[in-house]
Amino acid sequence: MNMDRLDWLVGQGTPLQGELDIPGDKSVSHRAVMLAAIADGTSRVQGFLEGEDTRSTAAIFGQLGVRIEAPSASVRVVHGVGLEGLRAAPDDLDCGNAGTGMRLLAGLLAGQRFDSVLVGDASLSRRPMARVIDPLRRMGARIDAREGGLPPLRIIGNNVLQGIDFKLPVASAQVKSAVLLAGLYATGETRVLEPHPTRDYTERMLSAFGWPIRFSPGVAQLSGGHRLRGTDVDVPADFSSAAFFLVAASLVPGSDLLLRRVGMNPRRTGLLEALRLMGADIQALSPGEQGGEPVADLRVRHARLRGIEVPEHLVPDMIDEFPALFVAAALAEGRTVVRGAAELRVKESDRIAVTAAALQALGARVLETPDGAVIDGGPLHGGTVDSHGDHRVAMSLAIAAQLAGGEVRIGDCANVATSFPGFDSLARSAGFGLRTPEANG
Ligand code: S3P
Repeated sequence: MNMDRLDWLVGQGTPLQGELDIPGDKSVSHRAVMLAAIADGTSRVQGFLEGEDTRSTAAIFGQLGVRIEAPSASVRVVHGVGLEGLRAAPDDLDCGNAGTGMRLLAGLLAGQRFDSVLVGDASLSRRPMARVIDPLRRMGARIDAREGGLPPLRIIGNNVLQGIDFKLPVASAQVKSAVLLAGLYATGETRVLEPHPTRDYTERMLSAFGWPIRFSPGVAQLSGGHRLRGTDVDVPADFSSAAFFLVAASLVPGSDLLLRRVGMNPRRTGLLEALRLMGADIQALSPGEQGGEPVADLRVRHARLRGIEVPEHLVPDMIDEFPALFVAAALAEGRTVVRGAAELRVKESDRIAVTAAALQALGARVLETPDGAVIDGGPLHGGTVDSHGDHRVAMSLAIAAQLAGGEVRIGDCANVATSFPGFDSLARSAGFGLRTPEANG
């Protein structure tokens, strides 16, 4: 949890150039540690994201009795304790800022013989948990939350869980994953149906760890009573972190960047399609596979972007990329319309309101709608804006500042370390004009 207040001062830099290594995928890193912890035998996780979110998850498994070594940066060796080997932690389990951590752990801990309490920071404590509590209760779990289904979550152990046939009301990989993880401990079949396919890392990784699971876009099915086998995981670079550089290099004239070995799971790359519809010049080179995931080197060069109507079917595949898309739209030619993205209002911040307000403060014409925004491209000026402690909003505003007519002070940026530690120095090395003023801390 970040107690320090960190502001950035960001102004125009130089064209973005060079080859960048983006840190490991957050979703994959969380899941790798979780499954390795309850597997039989040892797993080596390479490319592990050294972010606060994923470190919180690793620390929680330490509290639950799992030995996890960190022989070098971005590597974790997890000594799995088997499906029934976790033990009660004397203290609360702090998920920090991580919705993925809390929701997936709720599913996994619902099947244990002991009680647990999951807590989070101020942002996470405002995020809806009823979406996982409801299906887990239907499976037989006992979970108490604060009024309105908010954290902390008290998970009472020693229940017999039954498999469930669950139709997700909202497209959410976190809810799907929570139900599947509880399903490992349940009797009978668990089946999850999605209104739109979401990222399938839990399914792919369960399969890689040897658990029989059937899945195809929009449906996943498994039954209890099997075991997980320790497996090495090679985590690809996080597409959502690469996204900031895809947008920035598209916008800043003269840019030509190469982002190496980026995860290209189709349930994550919606922004690539949206940017290409806007006229972006992004090539996926040397396609390959890493840790069972498609990867590619992404070469992005400056291009003139035009406003678009973002196709609604792309929304779940780019759900984390809207703050960056809003910035691209604010600097594109013409109008961009986003619809069907109400989920943005319950992310680390209300991303529609927070991003719109910040861009408006820089002179952008952004009209909020209940489930999206209408954005008319035009010039931006300098000013003072607030990221409201939302990592993706902070990084997106740093992109906007590359094109603004004056310096931009971005408030409350410390949480960037939750998903993208070292963003500021990597961005500077690529050409961003970004500094942290003395007065911070
Ligand atoms: C995630 C799923 C998405 C995404 C989040 C990570 C995951 O959330 O926004 O950053 O790792 O499963 P929802 O599943 O709630 O849409």
